[in-house]
Amino acid sequence: MKRSGNVILIAGFGFFLLAFVIIGIIPWLQPKQQTHTIINLKGKPEPVHELTGLAAKGRLVYIHEGCWVCHTQFVRPVSGEKQYYGPVAEAGTYNYQLPMLMGKRRIGPDLSDEGGKHTNDWQYAHLYDPTSVSPGTIMQPFPWLFHGSAAKPTKRAVELVAYLQTLGTDVAEGTGYKSYWQYRAAQVSAVSAVVKNSPQVVKEGMKIFNANCQACHGIKGGGNGPAAASLKPKPWDFTSGKWIKKYGSTDKDIYTRIAQGVPHTAMPEWATTLKPNQIWEVLYYIKTFSQKKVA
Ligand code: HEC
Ligand code: HEC
Repeated sequence: MKRSGNVILIAGFGFFLLAFVIIGIIPWLQPKQQTHTIINLKGKPEPVHELTGLAAKGRLVYIHEGCWVCHTQFVRPVSGEKQYYGPVAEAGTYNYQLPMLMGKRRIGPDLSDEGGKHTNDWQYAHLYDPTSVSPGTIMQPFPWLFHGSAAKPTKRAVELVAYLQTLGTDVAEGTGYKSYWQYRAAQVSAVSAVVKNSPQVVKEGMKIFNANCQACHGIKGGGNGPAAASLKPKPWDFTSGKWIKKYGSTDKDIYTRIAQGVPHTAMPEWATTLKPNQIWEVLYYIKTFSQKKVA
């Protein structure tokens, strides 16, 4: 009995050592794994930078507020994750990241490529009251990061959002729309009408609008939903029947706006959430706001 106990102990220790060498030592010895660069969307190596200034402080806020409990920062090469979250994580991505914030559970979406996906005003509105821009979300509000309204972020909220805007980008803190989402937008081309306009379709569109759009655009399409107060520019007012000039006013143009979002405004891209037929349905519905004054 005693001898077999020793065998188990030694074998156990042996396997532990083996695992340690395979998982810990070998990758560390491979120079490929220690890269300070990532391969960008154009297939070229690009250096990864250490966070500085506001964004570096924002990372500490992210840790302190426990955002990592619900959010991962690790895009895996499986199940088409790339389509939702952005390029698959590379070793270099984590070069300067200690502690690592890969996370292990996705209660909310992966944030590896959050930078530039939404504008700062959207991020503030979302942190102050997530349901205001994302109805039905279970993400908790963080009102203590604000002075009483989404329009008045504290220093910590400013730092946090500066950090979020760097995720997946190499742009200076919070300055930019990052290459990935610009690239994404170019991929979302207008799909010709896959459904015909009919009262039934408009009804479906109303459901989609009330679930996803009214928080910003207002239940009657007037651009004055509950989240609108802190947004600049304000959500579009559909009752006038006018459309943003530079983007055109054909149905296809409007489709593209809904699918891609409106750059540099809080208008999100919906192509990742809504199917083409749903985008057409909601499009027909928002056009009804200006067509008739319903009693
Ligand atoms: C209780 C879990 C939970 C916590 C804690 C949490 N989130 Fe979220 N988060 C979610 C869920 C669920 C969503 C998806 C729905 C939505 O947009 O709100 C989300 C969405 C987001 C998004 C939008 C992602 C996108 O689609 O672009 C951002 C950004 C975000 N969270 C940041 C944060 C930050 C920063 C913190 C910490 C201050 C945080 N979250 C804490 C659950 C959480
Ligand atoms: C987080 C707030 C927000 C949500 C949610 C939102 N929008 Fe927007 N929307 C905006 C803002 C801000 C603009 C830009 C207004 C501007 O540029 O002046 C905009 C612009 C638009 C435009 C552009 C109008 C044009 O002339 O091209 C369309 C169309 C639109 N939204 C449709 C929708 C639809 C459909 C939904 C729901 C599926 C939706 N929006 C959800 C904030 C939002």
